[in-house]
Amino acid sequence: EQERTFVMVKPDGVQRGLTGEIISRFEDRGLKLVGAKFMQIDQELAEEHYGEHEDKPFFDDLVDFITAGPVMAMVWEGQDAVRQVRSMMGETDPAESAPGTIRGDLGLDLGRNVIHGSDNEDPGANEREIDLFFDEDELTEWERID
Ligand code: CMP
Repeated sequence: EQERTFVMVKPDGVQRGLTGEIISRFEDRGLKLVGAKFMQIDQELAEEHYGEHEDKPFFDDLVDFITAGPVMAMVWEGQDAVRQVRSMMGETDPAESAPGTIRGDLGLDLGRNVIHGSDNEDPGANEREIDLFFDEDELTEWERID
């Protein structure tokens, strides 16, 4: 099923110059970019985006980290896009991520793991995150030629 997923290159990935490489990986895989925004996340958006983690001991650090510099927020579309992106990203912890995955190749540690992608264990997380970051008129329908 064609679906959309929310992905963002986190501040560590932007600062280390990895944005282009990450976009290329998704393009090469055949996914379609339908929205992108280079932006600074404020405190309120960070707390809402990571709301499910508000009781975790690392919550404040997570919010500080994600607001520390610009991110590249994106929406990618394709067959089973949520699962595809999750498998390309690897595990949350780069040390647990296989070589060939984005975090396995580029991630440094649990905090500096370069990228976020919508969870597939949390039904509807992709649509919620897309709605949180993008207005409908910021998403563009187009056709890839492969
Ligand atoms: P992400 O997929 O963006 O979703 C929540 C983030 O919390 C996760 O990636 C990690 O970067 C971060 N995270 C998870 N566990 C820890 C932890 N124990 N310490 C610091 N950060 C964490």
